[in-house]
Amino acid sequence: MNYGSFDDNSREYVINTPKTPLPWINYLGNKDFFSLVSNTCGGYSFYKDAKLLRLTRYRYNACPMDTNGKYFYIKDGDTVWNPGWQPTKTDLDSYECRHGMGYSRFNSSKNGVSASLLTFVPMSDTCEIHKLSLTNESGSDKEITLFSYVEFCLWNAMDDMTNFQRNLSTGEVEVIGSAIYHKTEYRERRNHYALWYVNTDIESFDTSRDDFLGVYNGPDCPDAVKNGHCTGSVASGWYPVGCHEVKVSLKPGETKTCIFILGYCENPDDDKWEEKGVINKTPAKKLIEKFSTEEGVDKAFNELKDYWATLLSRFHVDSENPHVNRMVNIWNQYQCMVTFNMSRSASYYESGIGRGMGFRDSCQDLLGFVHLIPDRARERIIDIASTQFKDGSAYHQYQPLTKKGNSDIGSGFNDDPLWLIAGTSAYIRETGDTSILDENVPYDNDWSVATTLFEHLTRSFNYTVTHKGPHGLPLIGRADWNDCLNLNCFSEHPGESFQTFGPSEGPVAESIFIGGMFVKYGKEYADLCALCGKTDEQKRAEDEVATMEKAILSHGWDGEWFIRAYDANGNKVGSNECEEGKIYIEPQGFCVLSGVGKETGEAEKALRSVEKYLDSKYGIMILQPAYTKYHVELGEISSYPPGYKENAGIFCHNNPWVSIAETVLGHGNRAFEIYKKTCPSYLEEISDIHRTEPYVYSQMVAGKDAKFFGQGKNSWLTGTAAWTFTDISQYILGVYPTLKGLSIDPCIPSDFGDFKIHREYRNASYDIEVHTNGSEKGVKKLIVNGQEISGSTVIPYDENVKEYKVTVEM
Ligand code: BGC
Ligand code: NOJ
Repeated sequence: MNYGSFDDNSREYVINTPKTPLPWINYLGNKDFFSLVSNTCGGYSFYKDAKLLRLTRYRYNACPMDTNGKYFYIKDGDTVWNPGWQPTKTDLDSYECRHGMGYSRFNSSKNGVSASLLTFVPMSDTCEIHKLSLTNESGSDKEITLFSYVEFCLWNAMDDMTNFQRNLSTGEVEVIGSAIYHKTEYRERRNHYALWYVNTDIESFDTSRDDFLGVYNGPDCPDAVKNGHCTGSVASGWYPVGCHEVKVSLKPGETKTCIFILGYCENPDDDKWEEKGVINKTPAKKLIEKFSTEEGVDKAFNELKDYWATLLSRFHVDSENPHVNRMVNIWNQYQCMVTFNMSRSASYYESGIGRGMGFRDSCQDLLGFVHLIPDRARERIIDIASTQFKDGSAYHQYQPLTKKGNSDIGSGFNDDPLWLIAGTSAYIRETGDTSILDENVPYDNDWSVATTLFEHLTRSFNYTVTHKGPHGLPLIGRADWNDCLNLNCFSEHPGESFQTFGPSEGPVAESIFIGGMFVKYGKEYADLCALCGKTDEQKRAEDEVATMEKAILSHGWDGEWFIRAYDANGNKVGSNECEEGKIYIEPQGFCVLSGVGKETGEAEKALRSVEKYLDSKYGIMILQPAYTKYHVELGEISSYPPGYKENAGIFCHNNPWVSIAETVLGHGNRAFEIYKKTCPSYLEEISDIHRTEPYVYSQMVAGKDAKFFGQGKNSWLTGTAAWTFTDISQYILGVYPTLKGLSIDPCIPSDFGDFKIHREYRNASYDIEVHTNGSEKGVKKLIVNGQEISGSTVIPYDENVKEYKVTVEM
């Protein structure tokens, strides 16, 4: 069942009912100011950091679902309605929400009045714009009262939802004309305030929630709206809000537009005040000046649209498959941008106060983002590496505002260091910019011990080399990519965090998955050594990789598939010997995509076992059989009910690993079958089962053991975005950036048909035409600017050549 449809020409998803199975959201903002907005106008905004600088309040766990957003109430006679349906939930005569690239639009109508609301965050200002047009489509005059409503968060979102004994006494505002300023804590250590403004005269305002709503009301029935008037309240403590009351008289056919600005404003510490107790409004005035006219807003909106058009043109496919076209050209790349910006911090499932920027998460996000804005990827790599420790290990997470490692979670996830090699290698393969390796980068933000980035990578590599267990396989530490495989934790009491309880090191528990990663990124490290002329180091790296491959094949092979790990007692995890959790997806995907067992047959066998034991109609499950009881020696993985999350859920993130692995073995049909099963656009038809947004990937789909098999959860912030984009663009469509140039070696289903790709790469553009001739894999002929070349890599041969026309015969 569908709740909307794709409008590919406009790059929008059009939702045609507010009653989607779950809130279907979008992200606004590009760099510093961000908002989440749902299809019923729910959501919240923050500046740089969803935990530390949150502008508006959102209620996770709220009932009704998706409570609090930026709301507009249209009071037309006795009828009150909202353009996004919530919070009054008045039945609308028509409703449409269009989520686009960095903006959302709501078109709705009731009783002869139509509302068109456009909301977006401009490219270079720290604010969110709401442009609301009301049109009288009836035959008689309309006297409408329009109310706005935002509820301010007292900045630190964690403190805001816990420290009521203090917070209910700190709230402060100022109101000047149509501008409401939220300035809680500005009197002391903050140098920022929020602005909520409308570009027209107002009848009245409210800034105290109790006065606007009524103490025992919710936003669904504010007293002020019911009475038709705001009260002019000035908040002091309690719950500051921003509400405007605007009279809108409309003749038949007439349209009037109001522009609302939600702004974040910052002043220098020594210039905070206009006069005693009165905030310096200079930054707010700048925002008001820029955006209080329709011309100003339209200009900013066009800038945003142009920005996305240019960005998305960097990789464009034109194939016979509309799902592939739309995911590759629009939504998958868009989600890659969002995951790059957010890491795993703020979504409708990530509260924005927990997990800041993940070390491994952000490194992987780079894989799907680096081709879009390489300079921002470069900056991010340096930020991430700056949180690494001297011994190569890493803080598992860092806070986006401070860029400092998060000591609550600490380190000890032994896959983390290797992901830094993955991200850096992707950046250099994309740009050819080896100067990044010479950058001086601190450890744990301590400049006194800074070294080159190259040395950081060496320490990442060495971390695995020096942390091996009894079988010569990598020690797992607290966990590897699978945060829930906690082999050294042994937690027996509720409330202990699986990620921090117990020793961070254990001398026995080993991960075959990290082994596979080491082979993959050890080779990429060796390639970087070669590129930099460090041949001794290259040789050492290659030897270490070979040693690891041997260890995997000797101690990590179970006969039909790769073992997952050895636990702290030296027992196998993910082996036929186990009662539950006999086979896991991660080592099959990563060992095979790294080439382990490719020549000797284990790779092929492992993938056939995945197909036989782990596949389902909605995707490949993470393990089978599901754990039915808690295993203290395995940790969080066995804490989930069977079929959910890491316990036999379909963890979308590692489905592309298996798809990539299939391409490594040349199986185009199977690689694409895997791609299809989790591809949002293909799932649109089953939105009633899948429930999450059909335009983005979710972290998880419930596995076959779960009650709700096929149900998606945790949409948006998942490494699935970057990995699927890598899979489809670099392995299936086959345009893979190497250190020297673009390799073009597709691996596609035999009925895929011919396709074209436009790719911007290292200051040149590539127009690639692939004649597939019914083949799954194998390039027979490659013609570059009229010349046939050998091999499959197009090496830019002259920096003055800016256009490459490439024809591929398969
Ligand atoms: C989740 C994991 C996540 C981990 C760390 C666990 O509860 O299941 O997916 O990686 O928390 O935040
Ligand atoms: C989500 C986390 O963000 C990611 O770091 C982890 O790899 C997966 N869960 C699997 O546990």
